[in-house]
Amino acid sequence: MRDRIGTLLSKYDRRVPRYTSYPTAPHFGPQVGPGDYRRWLAELDPEAPLSLYLHIPFCDSLCWFCGCHTKVVQRRRPIAQYLEVLAQEIDLAAEALGPRRRVCHVHFGGGSPSILSPDEIEAVFARLNACFDITGDADIAIEIDPRDLDLAVIPALARGGVNRASIGLQDLSRKVQAAVNRMQSFEETEEAVETLRAAGIGAINIDLMYGLPHQDVAAVEETIDGALALEPDRLCLFGYAHVPWMKKHQRLIDEAALPGPEARFAQYMAASSRLVGAGYRWIGIDHFARPEDPLAVAAEAGALRRNFQGYTTDDAVARIGFGPSAIGVMPQGFIQNTTAMAAYRDGIGRGDLPIARGRALSADDRLRGAVIERLMCDLKVDLGHFGGDFTAEAAALDEMRADGLVEIDRGAAGPVIRVTAKGRPFVRAACAVFDSYLTPSETRHARAV
Ligand SMILES: C[S@@+](CC[C@H](N)C(=O)[O-])C[C@H]1O[C@@H](n2cnc3c(N)ncnc32)[C@H](O)[C@@H]1O
Ligand code: SF4
Repeated sequence: MRDRIGTLLSKYDRRVPRYTSYPTAPHFGPQVGPGDYRRWLAELDPEAPLSLYLHIPFCDSLCWFCGCHTKVVQRRRPIAQYLEVLAQEIDLAAEALGPRRRVCHVHFGGGSPSILSPDEIEAVFARLNACFDITGDADIAIEIDPRDLDLAVIPALARGGVNRASIGLQDLSRKVQAAVNRMQSFEETEEAVETLRAAGIGAINIDLMYGLPHQDVAAVEETIDGALALEPDRLCLFGYAHVPWMKKHQRLIDEAALPGPEARFAQYMAASSRLVGAGYRWIGIDHFARPEDPLAVAAEAGALRRNFQGYTTDDAVARIGFGPSAIGVMPQGFIQNTTAMAAYRDGIGRGDLPIARGRALSADDRLRGAVIERLMCDLKVDLGHFGGDFTAEAAALDEMRADGLVEIDRGAAGPVIRVTAKGRPFVRAACAVFDSYLTPSETRHARAV
């Protein structure tokens, strides 16, 4: 068994994208700029509700594994200054959108949005409410690092309408925590969860990681048990993406202490089976949800979506991104804000939407993007339903079929690809077959499993 897993990993645990978009972000370029974005915003159906993403790129200390776009700040001033610019960006986008729009999803990501003070949170919500109609049943989510969360912030979040919190837990073992510069007690995480629930923020997600230095199956299982004691609605289980050539601070991690591919796989499978054993539905590659949770319900109905935060129920026609590095998703294509804070601030100071890169979608991109999204979400895709000619891709999956990772049936209009239970960890490799931009020499991605 061990040998067979080793063979599968050496064949399919390739450095392929996470497919949170297609084309993926490395294929965005300068050919899409602020003028295109303004036009795309103005073209949106005024009746269709939107989704908003606000990036808060600050943390109070740096986790050495971090792959997010963030900066450590010791003072409040840079945060306050940033929020002033963010408010201007919200005004600029609302102006470009024209008529006041309804909003059905808001996500505060980071970095650590929990670093904001109650007054700052109120000011952000005041600006959002001045520019948009956030619907009464909107999903409003925020990412929280329990270590920087001042519990006094929670009532302000609740007043703003926040109803979902994603809490970073990662790993409970002190040895692993020390190796990644993230000391976090179970008690502080528990206190955050209890205070959020008491304030009416009832939907709790927990982020966990595997593949960290010194992590082993026992540490992962202990962490899962701790996370389960918090009775979350959803959990995300992220494989540590070690990309020190892109994230220089990851060089602080002792590579000799990193688990190898087989050990990572064992951690992933042990964590997943414990979560499934506890009654959670396994969603896509790395999410778990209670059967009655809207994410599990959407998965069951084939209505799950995938975006830059992972699996979601958000099916808004467009997602407007705010803040440096934020990515917007429009019917016409993707746009990404400039990453450098100075360029972001200067752009907005000039009254420009601070777009650095993007990608207009061709008909082929839409087709392949839809196939990849269904495979990532449903672990199944009926190629006939999409109308394209995928004969070559179906043939390219033959090796995965022979290895028992996918099944290929003849459907009424074309091949139907089904990822088997054994193939779930390798679904990204199946998606890569449909990716016409991926070159065999691409090495910028982390391991697939
Ligand atoms: C923006 S953080 C969540 C909120 C908060 N900053 C925190 O860490 O508690 C998003 C999540 O991404 C995951 N993550 C960060 N860096 C990662 C990496 N290099 N590989 C895989 N997952 C990573 C962690 O699980 C983290 O909780
Ligand atoms: S707290 Fe979250 S965003 Fe900040 S460094 Fe750690 S993982 Fe990255």
